[in-house]
Amino acid sequence: MGQRQAIGIGLLGLGTVGSEVYRLLLDHDALTRAVGRPLVVKRVAVARADRPRPVPAHLLTTDGWTVVNDAEVDIVVELIGGLEPARGYMLRALEAGKSVVTANKAVLAAYGPELYAQVQSSGGHLHFEASVGGGVPLIKPISESLAAARLTAIVAILNGTTNFILTRMAHSGWSFNDALAEAQRRGFAEADPTNDVDGHDAAAKLAILASVAFHCQITSDDVFREGVRSITPRDFAYAKELGYEIKPLAIARKHNGDVEARVHPALVPLDHPLAQVPDEFNAVLVEGVNVGRVVFSGRGAGGTPTATAVIGDIITVAKDLVAGVRGRSPIGTPVPARVRPIEDVAVPYYLSLQVVDRPGVFARVATVIGEEQVSIASIVQKSRSEIADAILVTHDAPGRAVQRVLARLRALDVVKAITNVIRVQDSL
Ligand SMILES: NC(=O)c1ccc[n+]([C@@H]2O[C@H](COP(=O)([O-])OP(=O)(O)OC[C@H]3O[C@@H](n4cnc5c(N)ncnc54)[C@H](OP(=O)(O)O)[C@@H]3O)[C@@H](O)[C@H]2O)c1
Repeated sequence: MGQRQAIGIGLLGLGTVGSEVYRLLLDHDALTRAVGRPLVVKRVAVARADRPRPVPAHLLTTDGWTVVNDAEVDIVVELIGGLEPARGYMLRALEAGKSVVTANKAVLAAYGPELYAQVQSSGGHLHFEASVGGGVPLIKPISESLAAARLTAIVAILNGTTNFILTRMAHSGWSFNDALAEAQRRGFAEADPTNDVDGHDAAAKLAILASVAFHCQITSDDVFREGVRSITPRDFAYAKELGYEIKPLAIARKHNGDVEARVHPALVPLDHPLAQVPDEFNAVLVEGVNVGRVVFSGRGAGGTPTATAVIGDIITVAKDLVAGVRGRSPIGTPVPARVRPIEDVAVPYYLSLQVVDRPGVFARVATVIGEEQVSIASIVQKSRSEIADAILVTHDAPGRAVQRVLARLRALDVVKAITNVIRVQDSL
């Protein structure tokens, strides 16, 4: 930073989040009060040169390297999204000893270890509060305020789109496709919803949160992932009858020597802290040996809330630069994690079957389940003339035992269909 008074900001991206960050950065007085020195935007990169922008023309470029390599830029704020060129820009900035603030969950969840290593070796700072939970503060509270909490579990709703879809299905009786269309109409879901509905977005966020909470290296590939497309209005009706909501959960647990990380829809008891989190809202419940349970919740996305989180990180970095502190990131020095295979994770399961409606059939189904050492906690059976719906909730059962049960049930002539299998989140 040398002797310059002002701290130079380089913005990569001026879209939904970037344009709000730029607007908030114009509130010079508040930022100067917070940091003790002015923050000045030196350069702004966008993809398309032909759009009107609320930024002086001499600051604009379509070449991100111009921003990263500008000697007057101390903090590179990466708000482009996607893997490349975002990763390359961030690495180059860190290599040059600059600091990086980003909202990019995809890059962090895929290449986090590479970036954190660069922070250690070159002394710049790396902060990413906005990458998980949008405007809900999570990374800083977990890494700083709860540093002594010895966190052991995260149970969260991290994807607003799927929470909106499942909330509408539960409370308006809509089909998955109708709820998705409404989410798209309201701007919560992309035209291609894969990233949200198949769990990629939540898996990336969970990888980041678990890495911060458990001080280990977890990437998206370590997270078991199952989407919400298979949930039907009938599942909601039976879940309700059994005393459950269905929510899109992201769960990570620290065991003695390994970490479990999974994203999937789950039945949660109606009195669970996450059961009533509605629509596009996010909520994160953490549990720690020294703190018990703590819940964070709020709007997990949107330009202005997310930009607020980005500005918070810029202020954190700027204060460290003023103080002459080097090489800080919420992740510290993470160690590789041993990931528990999903087949070894034991949870209760909801099994929705269609069986022949005759005496003795249910006993055959129950025998198969019992022979695989899985025990049944509750049953709902509804006759529909020749066929009956049989809904079972098991006690804790390892994934591999449930796979064996399903294979054997499929082979039974009295089982006409296994219409769904959903995990249950009974505890925490
Ligand atoms: N939107 C949210 O609510 C939200 C919430 C949390 C986190 N995030 C994260 O924040 C980041 C930004 O999201 P967003 O919604 O603001 O995206 P966006 O609206 O699509 O904006 C992306 C911006 O990056 C620019 N850009 C794209 N490629 C570029 C390149 N190669 N060089 C320079 N500029 C380039 C685009 O330029 P043009 O303007 O010319 O197209 C645009 O200004 C993503 O990582 C996203 O995951 C977003």
